[in-house]
Amino acid sequence: MKNLTLLVLLTSLLFSCSNNKGNEVENNESKIDSIIALMTIEEKIGQMTQIDQQFLDTITDIADYSIGSLLSGGGSNPDTNNFKGWADMYDAYQEVALTSRLGIPLIYGVDAVHGHNNVLGATMFPHNVGLGCANDYELCRKVSEATAIEVAATGINWNFSPCIAIPQDEKWGRHYEGYSEHVDIVSEMGEASIIGYQTKELGSVNYSIVACAKHFIADGATIWGTGMGNKADKIDRGNAPISDSLIRAKYLPPYQKAIDAGVGTIMASFNSINDLKCHANGYLFNDLLKDEMGFDGFVISDWQGIDEIPGDYKSDIINSVNAGLDMIMVPGAVKWDGEHYKTFLNLFKEAVDEGLITEERLNDAVRRILRIKYRSGLMKNPMTDRTLIEKAGSDEHKALAREAVQKSLVLLKNNDLLPLDESKNYFVTGSGADDIGKQCGGWTIEWQGGLGNITPGTSIIEGIEEFATTNRTSKNQIFDAAIVVVGEDPYTEMEGDSDKLFLSEKDKKSIEEVKKMGIPYVVVLITGRPLIVNETIDDSDAFLVAWLPGTEGGGVADILFGKENLTGKLSFSWPKSMEDIPCNYDNDCDALFPLGFGLTYSKK
Ligand code: GLC
Repeated sequence: MKNLTLLVLLTSLLFSCSNNKGNEVENNESKIDSIIALMTIEEKIGQMTQIDQQFLDTITDIADYSIGSLLSGGGSNPDTNNFKGWADMYDAYQEVALTSRLGIPLIYGVDAVHGHNNVLGATMFPHNVGLGCANDYELCRKVSEATAIEVAATGINWNFSPCIAIPQDEKWGRHYEGYSEHVDIVSEMGEASIIGYQTKELGSVNYSIVACAKHFIADGATIWGTGMGNKADKIDRGNAPISDSLIRAKYLPPYQKAIDAGVGTIMASFNSINDLKCHANGYLFNDLLKDEMGFDGFVISDWQGIDEIPGDYKSDIINSVNAGLDMIMVPGAVKWDGEHYKTFLNLFKEAVDEGLITEERLNDAVRRILRIKYRSGLMKNPMTDRTLIEKAGSDEHKALAREAVQKSLVLLKNNDLLPLDESKNYFVTGSGADDIGKQCGGWTIEWQGGLGNITPGTSIIEGIEEFATTNRTSKNQIFDAAIVVVGEDPYTEMEGDSDKLFLSEKDKKSIEEVKKMGIPYVVVLITGRPLIVNETIDDSDAFLVAWLPGTEGGGVADILFGKENLTGKLSFSWPKSMEDIPCNYDNDCDALFPLGFGLTYSKK
């Protein structure tokens, strides 16, 4: 009889609908009170635990340990990597979660940072560096909305995006994940993206997913040579020696805007501030974020982020949870020197038993997590809404991505070669001319992305051939002009840290070969950041920066042939030399091209 009573009570708590929005918040909070009162210590700890699905020993661990969240890190894909395969994977995990004693649904996170980029066939949009140059609020919101639809179509309800870093040093491998070096552009685009993912009211539609503003805080302010544990050639996850006043003036505003927009989660940053790891910094999360700024969602750690706190793993758990982190992305990556999730659970329980983490802290964290699970609609609708799948990868989304490409491109030079003439014959060459993987960049199918046909899309030369003949589509060997597409190969995070921001020898050779042809040529640059290419610009007849455009390379051709006018403006200063880096509008850098620079087609 007792179990039946519990079941009836829980069913009423988890699935009762409130008849009035105004009461919903109150109702949810009282439901959360009732659930917390039923939870054991182990269940509260489980709710605060996030595991990568690829590291589960067995699927039933989800229920046996009352796990609150799963994620798919970069490349943590189902065997059948398509929209249905993802939805089937998500639903299988969720069904197990609902069999746990309290039946609380999982919240499932993914990095859909430029579309649902782990999924084959998903629409890959330009990375944030390009969207920052477009600097178009409504476009940014629509890109995130389309991404939300494709993510929700796979059941997933949480996106570790937008990254609202303010990259200061172009040597950083995460430069392209930032919109701009300017706080105002980052604040605006961050807000637009959050509203795109969540809508103005989280949970109000079936494709509303929880956003995650990251990484708190000052991830883009670290110093070269302090990255990855003070490695001489790294900056990622390094130290930011900055004052509280600079944090408040420059790095905090995008987060305040995110909180005001109702962002459901915030991710702690790997970096240190004045040599204290953010993941252990109670001033940041307890005092600043939660008390002063009024953030009422929950804070998630980064991937094995607590492991980087000095001290043993148990002290890492204690220090991070007591600093205000509410959920820990463990994620169980034993094969990559990570800790097993059962080790995490056991040490966490020990710490609570020893009074080193209070039950009051657990209750606050669990309340925040359940609050977002209720607010997002997950408690009512935990399974995939399969009606969304028809929009995933749709022509409508591809057209939007193509528009985003058009608006993100920045023209740095034009000796009247552009716009090109469709009646002419073009020699197209370069490492980026026909490479979907290169034009997508990192965070594409795999964590680091990859070269070649890694996912369906339109390469830049395929886009050009929609308008004109090229050396691939014409036997004619007389060319009126050449288009050379060069630039960076894909990288992600610390793998992209570099103090050699130059073209590869292979790319330089491609350009030299074109120069010998004695015909006018335009260089198209695929890159996650400004590169030192002064001579290349000087020698060319036109120089167009495409950033990392994603799957819709047709957008580059649209601009080359003047189908659309240019509107993109640099959201980052463009340095003259490596010695000028970090080069920003507010550090007296004598830039080759300043923030805000971008040519247009005056004829149009
Ligand atoms: C990564 C990144 C973070 C991402 C997380 C999950 O290391 O720092 O941006 O959301 O792990 O993939």
